[in-house]
Amino acid sequence: MRFDIVTLFPEMLRGPFAASIVSRAVDRGIAEIELHDLRQWGHGKHRKVDDAPFGGGAGMVMQPEPLFAAVESIPGQAEARTVLLTPQGRLLTQAVVDELAAVPHLLLLCGHYEGVDERVREHLADDEISIGDYVLSGGEPAAIVLVDAIVRRLPGALGSEASLDEESHTGGLLEYPQYTRPAEYRGWPIPDILLSGHHKDVQTWRRRQSLLRTARRRPDLLRAALASDGAVSDADRRWLEEELETKLEEL
Ligand code: ADE
Repeated sequence: MRFDIVTLFPEMLRGPFAASIVSRAVDRGIAEIELHDLRQWGHGKHRKVDDAPFGGGAGMVMQPEPLFAAVESIPGQAEARTVLLTPQGRLLTQAVVDELAAVPHLLLLCGHYEGVDERVREHLADDEISIGDYVLSGGEPAAIVLVDAIVRRLPGALGSEASLDEESHTGGLLEYPQYTRPAEYRGWPIPDILLSGHHKDVQTWRRRQSLLRTARRRPDLLRAALASDGAVSDADRRWLEEELETKLEEL
């Protein structure tokens, strides 16, 4: 999968992409990431890319020409999905990540300052993504988040494909608690079931912990899982209602 990222601050992205899963995926040829410094397409001696807003007001707005020129210089851009990172975009969820992971070529535009000229949204971007309901100083941290979340979904990017498999099995639920050695630490033992060697019982315990944790911490996610066909079995439902001492409709 190919990523082209247009940014005023390429140095913000280099470090994060040079470590861990993303860097390994690049080394293996699973992902290709190219950074494009927007200044290159700025005008005048100062390579200006922004100007004051028409109609007045504080702050600066990113001008359309440098962004259009940068995008139009990128090979294959016409077939790529161009995504503007902005707090006004659709909220990034695992479902959106999986949707974007199926796109062979993404072109990410990192906004800055007070905003981006509206014509960029209307005529250059195909999509707008927000990584959460808060305002960052620019789209760069959002691009790092988005690339990381997508790359780990690409086949071969994780050490063992089983890790992904297990994650997807949780189907919109939070992960169950994990433990490793030592079996007792500062007097805190791990749950006995994990030492039992009964694979099937361990699976059931994990599944139930996932359900319980999701019900307590993220009832919104549990409601979505309950509404999606086959995600939560009747047995799961009965167990959860007993454990919570409440009907799931009342969550
Ligand atoms: N740029 C500024 N804030 C942002 C956010 N929350 N998501 C994506 N891009 C942004």
